[in-house]
Amino acid sequence: MVRPIASPIQPPARRSGSLRWAFDWWSQPLALGLAAVAFFVSDSIAQPLPLAERIKLCATCHGEDGNSRVPNIPSLAGQPEFFLVNQLFLFREGVRKLEAMAPLVKDLKDDDLVAIAKHFAALVAKPSEEPIDPALAKRGAALAEPLRCASCHLPNLAGQAQMPRLAKQRIDYLIHAMREFRDNKRSGADTLMSNVMIDVSDADIAALAHYSASR
Ligand code: HEC
Ligand code: HEC
Repeated sequence: MVRPIASPIQPPARRSGSLRWAFDWWSQPLALGLAAVAFFVSDSIAQPLPLAERIKLCATCHGEDGNSRVPNIPSLAGQPEFFLVNQLFLFREGVRKLEAMAPLVKDLKDDDLVAIAKHFAALVAKPSEEPIDPALAKRGAALAEPLRCASCHLPNLAGQAQMPRLAKQRIDYLIHAMREFRDNKRSGADTLMSNVMIDVSDADIAALAHYSASR
């Protein structure tokens, strides 16, 4: 049995399998891909998809090579395997909540979570197409020092164990994630990270994101 690091306090609230795709979240070209995902997912309720097929559906959002090209959707390539298993567990149990992903993970067995995590962990992380502002990145490096990001995420920010890779992650997603920790909006969040972000301003979050992505 895979056990989460962030211990869920509430019992898992399972969601219904209904798909309410928030199309406004994503750019237009993705809409077709998402419709395809919705089709396959509804099909898979009767018949479980083979793992390779499932991974193709993940790629619709997270990128063929695990590097996301979609705003606010994280890259998974090169993430620590343990981080991925942990997050997939939290999604499956409905502790970390994301309606768009829930139907894709809710029937997965522990072994499937491990196999999917191994797949994405083995892919090479590549920087996104977003421009990195060198001045912001420099300020972010100075901010990261006293906040001790490196003590958990490692000096090269490649992550370890349940701590995710920040290096080469999408800037928009990093900003989104840090704000959610700070504002207590990330479901199933590890309190270690929420404590780090207390009192960090939006401007400092942007600097930390540019620094992290540049590593
Ligand atoms: C419809 C788009 C979509 C699909 C399909 C999708 N995801 Fe996601 N995924 C997201 C979004 C959006 C997030 C970020 C959630 C947030 O903001 O907290 C995410 C987050 C994640 C995370 C957490 C990463 C992190 O850095 O915190 C993992 C792991 C993940 N997805 C794995 C998968 C896997 C495995 C599949 C296929 C079984 C999949 N996803 C399918 C949209 C999708
Ligand atoms: C005490 C250890 C610790 C420190 C210090 C720390 N983090 Fe984290 N961080 C974590 C853990 C653990 C997670 C995973 C959170 C979860 O599972 O909810 C995380 C997650 C994140 C995420 C979410 C990424 C994703 O893919 O979802 C971001 C962004 C992040 N940290 C940025 C930072 C930055 C920037 C700093 C320094 C300002 C920092 N962290 C300092 C432990 C730490």
